[in-house]
Amino acid sequence: MTRDIVIAPSILAANFAKLGEEIAAIDAAGADWIHCDVMDGHFVPNISFGADIIKAIRPITRKAFDVHLMIAPVDPYIEAFAKAGADIITVHAEAGPHLDRSLQAIGALGKKAGVSLCPATPETAIEHVLDRVDLILVMTVNPGFGGQSFLDSQIGKIRRIRSMIGGRPIRLEVDGGITRDNAAAVAAAGADTLVAGSAVFRGNDSADYARNIGAIRLAAEAGRVPNSAPPARAVETALR
Ligand code: DX5
Ligand code: ZN
Repeated sequence: MTRDIVIAPSILAANFAKLGEEIAAIDAAGADWIHCDVMDGHFVPNISFGADIIKAIRPITRKAFDVHLMIAPVDPYIEAFAKAGADIITVHAEAGPHLDRSLQAIGALGKKAGVSLCPATPETAIEHVLDRVDLILVMTVNPGFGGQSFLDSQIGKIRRIRSMIGGRPIRLEVDGGITRDNAAAVAAAGADTLVAGSAVFRGNDSADYARNIGAIRLAAEAGRVPNSAPPARAVETALR
C-alpha cells in the first residue's frame, strides 16, 4: 500500500555492534526507507561509515536505501554508493561548486537524486536545479551528529520550498531532531518525508521501534498539507 508520509529511520542512532539486527528490526517495525548518514570528518565534524558498510547491510531489507552524503568532495564517491545499493543519493548544496554536475551524475547512474541544505543555506541555492532532483532534504539541525535539538528557524524554509516545488514530483524530507512532538509542524509546513534517528531507536526491540515510528507517522499525518499529496505519491510509487 502506498502511504503519503514516508518515515526514514536514521541508522546513525542504531547500535553499530548489531547493525544487521537493528536494520531488520526497523524493517519489521514499519520503516519506509532506511536513512544512511555518511560523514567524512571534513564536511561535517564527525565520521560515520562509508560504501562498504552500506554494501554489507544492503541484503538485509528490500526497503529503499536513502543515502545522505555529508562529504566533500562528493563527486569521486557517487558511483561507489550507487554500486553499494543506494536507491536515493543526496548531496549537499554546500559540498562543492558543481551541484548541477553532481545531480546529473546521480541520475546517469540510474539513482534518484537528492539535494540537501544546511540550516544557514537559503532555498535560493537550489532554485536552478529543481528539475534535476527527486528529493530535497532540509536539515533541521547542523549536520554531523544525531540527538540534537530541532531548529524552529527551518519551518519557514520548508514552507517556501514546498511552494517552489509546485507540481513537480519531488519529495520534501526533513532531517534532524524530528520527534512525535514536532512531526505535525513539519508536515504542516509541507514536509512529506521524515528522518528520525534517536526518536526511533529508543527502547530495546522492534516492538518499541514500531511504537516510535507509528507515533511520528500519526502526528505527521495529522499535520499534513492535503494538496501536496499527489506529487509525493508519484515519487514514492517510482521508488517501490
Ligand atoms: C545529522 C544526520 C541525521 C541525524 C538524525 O547529521 O543527518 O540523519 O542522524 O538523528 P536525530 O533524529 O537523532 O536528530
Ligand atoms: Zn541524515
